[in-house]
Amino acid sequence: MKVLIIGGGGREHAIATSVAKSKQVEKIYCAPGNAGIGQIAECVNIGVMEFDKLVQFAKENEIDFTIVGPDDPLVAGAVDAFEAAGLTAFGPRKNAAIIEGSKAFSKDLMKKYNIPTASYETFTTSESAIEYLSTCDFPIVLKADGLALGKGVLICNTYEEAKEGVKTLMLDKQFGHAGDRIVVEEFMTGREVSVLCYCDGNTIVPMTSAQDHKRAKDGDLGLNTGGMGTFSPSPFYTDEVDAFCKEHIYQPTMDAMKAEGREFVGILFCGLMLTDKGPKVLEYNARFGDPEAQVVLPRMKNDIIEVMQACIDHKLDTIDLQFEDNAAVCVVLASNGYPEHYEKGFVIEGLDKVAKKEGYYVFHAGTKQTEQGIVTNGGRVLGVTAKGATLKEARANAYEATKLVTFENKYMRTDIGKAIDEA
Ligand code: AMP
Ligand code: GLY
Repeated sequence: MKVLIIGGGGREHAIATSVAKSKQVEKIYCAPGNAGIGQIAECVNIGVMEFDKLVQFAKENEIDFTIVGPDDPLVAGAVDAFEAAGLTAFGPRKNAAIIEGSKAFSKDLMKKYNIPTASYETFTTSESAIEYLSTCDFPIVLKADGLALGKGVLICNTYEEAKEGVKTLMLDKQFGHAGDRIVVEEFMTGREVSVLCYCDGNTIVPMTSAQDHKRAKDGDLGLNTGGMGTFSPSPFYTDEVDAFCKEHIYQPTMDAMKAEGREFVGILFCGLMLTDKGPKVLEYNARFGDPEAQVVLPRMKNDIIEVMQACIDHKLDTIDLQFEDNAAVCVVLASNGYPEHYEKGFVIEGLDKVAKKEGYYVFHAGTKQTEQGIVTNGGRVLGVTAKGATLKEARANAYEATKLVTFENKYMRTDIGKAIDEA
């Protein structure tokens, strides 16, 4: 079987690594891919939003199975474009990916189907939003309705801050049209957990849990980023929490999408807050998390193509999804200055030292192959993942491995997975 993966970050490198283990797969292509993915797949220079070119490439190269990694192409209808050409693609269609593409849609869905989430109001003018805010308790959360690279969420501690936030989102249009509509949401406290689920439209099967660290600096300080590291499983995601989520969140979401005529096939990422009133949904994504995939997929025992094919065939109930009884930690190596200004183009040394070790992975995010070797080419450069018998061991292994990979301006958080020591 020939597989095409769309995307070029750490998530797609983790997906490609799993696909490469499948016995059914003889060749992997990745568009556009990156230097790390290029070691296990043939990278194709086509952008993730160039649907016509991607479909044409898939036809010409007799691709049997395409996996769409990132949110942008999913929300814009990449899977529909492949299906219209008679090709098989894994991921939700446009009418289902809206669960990530519009926060107002997902909030209304949860309200209509009684799925636990923070209370909220939606606004299309800044005046009405500001008037409403004058009646609110603080802190409060403002969210741009559309996709904003995970950065369209503002937590505001005072009325003044919130007014400023409305201006940033709706008038200054910091995230473009994503801010034409905003959601104002109750602030929740608790532990955050990410649970990625395989979905076939009827059946939904959660994978092992994970937790992301979104802030740039130790102690969850600094600016929000695309994710500075992850660990899996989360010790806070107990059997009791799992049972609650299956009954009140996962299956009801699957059923709600079906009832709305928006059958969801693909990966549903449930961002959860474990509040003192029980688990509530923070957000849905229509894809694997990045860098959650980098700790979840290495622990999965199943053949990923078999599971994805079962989703497409509406036969997920025939799959016995299994994860290793261990733990994994991923530490992101970034360019100093990320998520603001940073330099790139520095040669990376030591990649082979980690990749050779069993249970260790270096997933490439922002890298480039040049004549000098592999160089840094983005804010988040690499994700170093290590497994261990326990989270503590995985954490020690991952940090030990980060020492082997060096480049100028290397920056990382030193406390990824530290919360687990308190558990
Ligand atoms: P989202 O993109 O919706 O996941 O939001 C990004 C981050 O903002 C989440 O991971 C949370 O840390 C935080 N956040 C979002 N919504 C809320 C909320 N209602 N209460 C507290 N924190 C929130
Ligand atoms: N790690 C969070 C996300 O992928 O959106």
